[in-house]
Amino acid sequence: MALVDSKQMFKKAFEGKYAIGAFNINNMEIVQGILRGAAACNSAVILQTSKSALNYAGPGCLHAMVKAILDETGVDAALHLDHGPDLETVKVCIENGFTSVMFDGSHFEYEENVKKTKEVVEYAHAHGVVVEAELGKLEGVEDEVKVEAGQGSYTDPDQAIDFVTRTGVDSLAVAIGTSHGAYKFKGDAKLDFERLETISEKLEKAGFDKYPIVLHGASGVDPAVIDLCNKYGGQIKGAKGIPAEMLRKAASMAVCKINMDTDIRLAMTAGIRQSFAEKPEAFDPRGYLGVARTMVQELVESKIRNVLGSVDSMK
Ligand code: G3H
Ligand code: 13P
Ligand code: ZN
Repeated sequence: MALVDSKQMFKKAFEGKYAIGAFNINNMEIVQGILRGAAACNSAVILQTSKSALNYAGPGCLHAMVKAILDETGVDAALHLDHGPDLETVKVCIENGFTSVMFDGSHFEYEENVKKTKEVVEYAHAHGVVVEAELGKLEGVEDEVKVEAGQGSYTDPDQAIDFVTRTGVDSLAVAIGTSHGAYKFKGDAKLDFERLETISEKLEKAGFDKYPIVLHGASGVDPAVIDLCNKYGGQIKGAKGIPAEMLRKAASMAVCKINMDTDIRLAMTAGIRQSFAEKPEAFDPRGYLGVARTMVQELVESKIRNVLGSVDSMK
């Protein structure tokens, strides 16, 4: 029942061939939904906030809320900065009690990414905080950055070894075919598992034992949830996510952290739309936000049981 970093979580996840879910937060109902879902599965979890979520809710508020709800639910969780754009944002998060940060320099030239990531690692490690970085470019919309279809690039395995060696980063987000947002694939879903295996093997050979790999852009985009949104007035067309079996396969390999945000947004939106449609006379926010919170809790439970495999990981 504590705010912890992800080191131990990842070690156990690698050895147990499962992954820890990393879910994006920006308000009380999302934090409660995630932590109640994790508690029901006795699972560790990562709560993460983007820069725009920090702007929306405030780092101090997010930290205090997480701390209070952790005490109530008895879950072990890391509080993580997602897609940190610069050292300044990293510093703000560390000052506000975050236990893990990501610096995302994937849109910079390689040497620039190495240099900036190294600076963040030095600062964060001096403050006892772990760091995730990214190499390769995912397609889709993430925070304030949009990478157009066809402009992404997969992670180069040799470069990954060089990057981890030179930066000292604690975990690495790779690009192997996932993408951010609700519109991930035009045709069939495809992930480059061979590349993932090669990266992991090379890391092992280079002396990085059980090195944790991170998968961003991993929402499943459940067609039933899209149908529910659209049934009650939504207009979400052509959305497609990553099939659960692909994520399970990745989790059984070196992937120890799987990021999902879009699925939470969709679940909440579906619940709120249905609630508005079925109770047009109601106007107490606790009604529809309560429904949305339950949708998040059910989603997280289902991800932990059917996709991540992290049930009982708090033992
Ligand atoms: O990968 C990015 C996350 O989905 C966060 O998005 O900046 O809109 O909170 P956001
Ligand atoms: P999705 O858009 O697939 O939920 O990915 C979220 C993510 O990677 C946050 O960093
Ligand atoms: Zn991401």
